[in-house]
Order: sequence, then structure tokens, then C-alpha cells
Amino acid sequence: MRRAFDIKWVVLCVVSLYCTKVTGADDAISEYAIAEYAIVEDGIRQPLTSTLGDSEAGRLAFSDRESGHCLLCHIVKSLDEPFQGTIGPDLTDVADRLSVPQLRLRVVDQSHISPETIMPSYHKTEGLNQVWAPYVGKPVLTAQEVEDVVTYLSTLTSEGPSDE
Ligand code: HEC
Repeated sequence: MRRAFDIKWVVLCVVSLYCTKVTGADDAISEYAIAEYAIVEDGIRQPLTSTLGDSEAGRLAFSDRESGHCLLCHIVKSLDEPFQGTIGPDLTDVADRLSVPQLRLRVVDQSHISPETIMPSYHKTEGLNQVWAPYVGKPVLTAQEVEDVVTYLSTLTSEGPSDE
């Protein structure tokens, strides 16, 4: 009798420890949650997060060959980076031709604009064809990283980056 009682407590402890762990893990991945967004015309008007995008963080994510990979396919002449790609359009003054909502949709999901595109959908986890194992269930860029990159792109005009 007494022994059975002890086992019950052991089981309870293990279960509650497990639950704490699972909840903790949930917190850790919530950063990777896909933000809800509405597409209006060919853009996303509402920012994905309530924190304003940071242009400098966006520039780093854009140039980072581990996460953004943007330079694999795009050129931005104002960046002092070697080996820029020419597969995609030159983005040196992309903000002259695309508004912030248009830029946001292109970073979130270019395939919405051109279904056959080779540009990855950076903030999407469903309907993707080839996903590298570490990225399964996670977007390549978090909602905040998307906002940072979009803010950086919005500074790319023929007049050069603004000094704010
Ligand atoms: C594998 C190549 C590739 C990568 C990596 C890539 N792109 Fe692209 N991107 C393209 C191509 C190709 C297009 C032209 C649109 C199409 O395919 O229809 C494009 C279009 C764009 C456009 C629209 C430009 C215009 O003039 O209409 C933007 C903005 C853009 N990409 C931003 C990015 C950003 C930001 C990143 C990184 C987070 C990135 N791209 C990564 C290939 C790529």
C-alpha cells in the first residue's frame, strides 16, 4: 500500500516536470511563430510585429550568408560585400519602385507574386517544396527579422540610405 502511494508521487513529479519542459519549449519556439497577415492588392500593409523594424539589424540579416542568403541572388551596390548574386533583380534602389507593403509581401512570400519564383518564401512554413531539416516548421526569418529587413530595404533609394 505504502509503496503504491510513493509511486503515484513519483509519476506525478515526472509528469509535472515534463509539462514544465514542454511549456518552456513552447516559449522558445514562439519566436518562430508565423505572424498573421492580410494581403491587400500586392502588399501587406500591417507590420507583422508591434516593434518597429531596425534598419541596421535588417542590413545584417540581409547580408548574413547563414540566414538571409539575400546576397546569393541580389546585388546592393551600397553594401561593401564581395560576391553578390545576379540571379534576382538588382536591389540597389528597390525602394524607388516598391512601397513598404509591397516589400513586406515579397520578403514574406515572393511565391504569392510569382508562383514559379526561385526566391525562398522567408516567412512561411506550409506549401514549401524543399525544406532543409533545421527549418522544418520554422520560417527562415522570424516576424521581427522580416520587419528589420523590410525597414532596411525601404532605405534603398537612388538618393541613398536616409540618416535616421
Ligand atoms: C535563390 C535566389 C534568391 C534569394 C536567396 C533571394 N531572392 Fe529575392 N528575388 C529573387 C528573384 C529571382 C526575384 C525576381 C522575382 C521573381 O522570381 O519573380 C527576386 C525578387 C525580390 C524582390 C522584388 C524586387 C523587384 O524589383 O521586384 C525583393 C524585394 C527581394 N527579392 C528581396 C529579397 C530579400 C530581402 C532576400 C533575402 C531575405 C532575397 N530576396 C533572397 C531571387 C532570390
